Amino acid sequence: MIEHLVRDNILRLTPYSSARSEFKGTASVFIDANENPFDTGLNRYPDPLQWKLKAQIGAWRRVEAEHIFLGNGSDEAIDLLVRIFCEPGRDHIVIVPPTYGMYQVSADIANVAVRSVPLQNTFQPDVEAILAQSDAHSKLLFLCSPNNPTANDMEPGRLRRLIAGFPGIVVVDEAYIDFSAQSSCIGWLKEFPNLVVLQTFSKAWGLAGIRLGMAFASEEIIALFNKVKPPYNVNELTQRAALEALTDKNRQEEWVRTILWQRTLLTQFLSGLEYVERIYPSDANFLLVKVRDANGLYRYLADLGIIVRNRSSVPGCEGCLRITVGTPQENEKLLEALVGFC
Ligand SMILES: Cc1ncc(COP(=O)(O)O)c(C=O)c1O
Repeated sequence: MIEHLVRDNILRLTPYSSARSEFKGTASVFIDANENPFDTGLNRYPDPLQWKLKAQIGAWRRVEAEHIFLGNGSDEAIDLLVRIFCEPGRDHIVIVPPTYGMYQVSADIANVAVRSVPLQNTFQPDVEAILAQSDAHSKLLFLCSPNNPTANDMEPGRLRRLIAGFPGIVVVDEAYIDFSAQSSCIGWLKEFPNLVVLQTFSKAWGLAGIRLGMAFASEEIIALFNKVKPPYNVNELTQRAALEALTDKNRQEEWVRTILWQRTLLTQFLSGLEYVERIYPSDANFLLVKVRDANGLYRYLADLGIIVRNRSSVPGCEGCLRITVGTPQENEKLLEALVGFC
């Protein structure tokens, strides 16, 4: 159904066939992959398709394992999407800035053009403008909800109109969805064969260090991911760590509750500071804050060893800093520092 969107060389590609994926059945002697036979606990290549982990993720997100791709962070999924669908010099991606920077970077690395349709003042996507500026070479539309760095959810009605009307693949990046009251778009997958939903273990799950990202999509799109991915893209330690984390979802939910409560406290405190001009509503684990002297405040905090993200030179975020909600102790330090700035 989406075959016409795929690059010709990817359709023609004979993928690498890994030793473990060719063999189906039970065996006790594995002398096929030039591994060291002595047991270190990690001497074997990992499952290239991570079936055990996908079964657990699928049960948690109510999706069949065949609709899941796992990558070395969701950044890997973003990169693969560009390489699967966009022919350099001919096709382009569409982004809605200000938004996550890796969409543009992945396209730039692949030498694929980028069409930008800025978000409206409310930080919502301009549905009519996006559709008007899209054509048969608009292969990917990246929407980030909740959006980084503006922190807001995109309205479901707008997302649906874009997915229904866009001529290519629509990627909804839900890296921050666990902090949002809005539901995931995963439930729409059956309705929209051109939808890809990205999520990650790097945020609410507290596992940025293991590099594990998820893409949820039709079996057809997942088969394309599997065709182009490096054979063992998710290592054994990562698979084990994620399986372990999934056995204790309460811990993740408790962190999210604490972070949301800390976000409320931070917002209240910041709104009392005379140099804070605006705190944008947040559906994520960070705040976008407009201040009188963003560069000055950024440097002042950095000198005290507190690093926030300076977004003041990003069009649409002029004068803004992006502040991640830290631990209660880290937030306390930030607040103490902020009262000393004038
Ligand atoms: C919107 C968004 N998508 C994706 C990522 C990257 O996620 P991962 O760590 O899974 O590569 C980030 C990281 O900051 C992000 O903000």
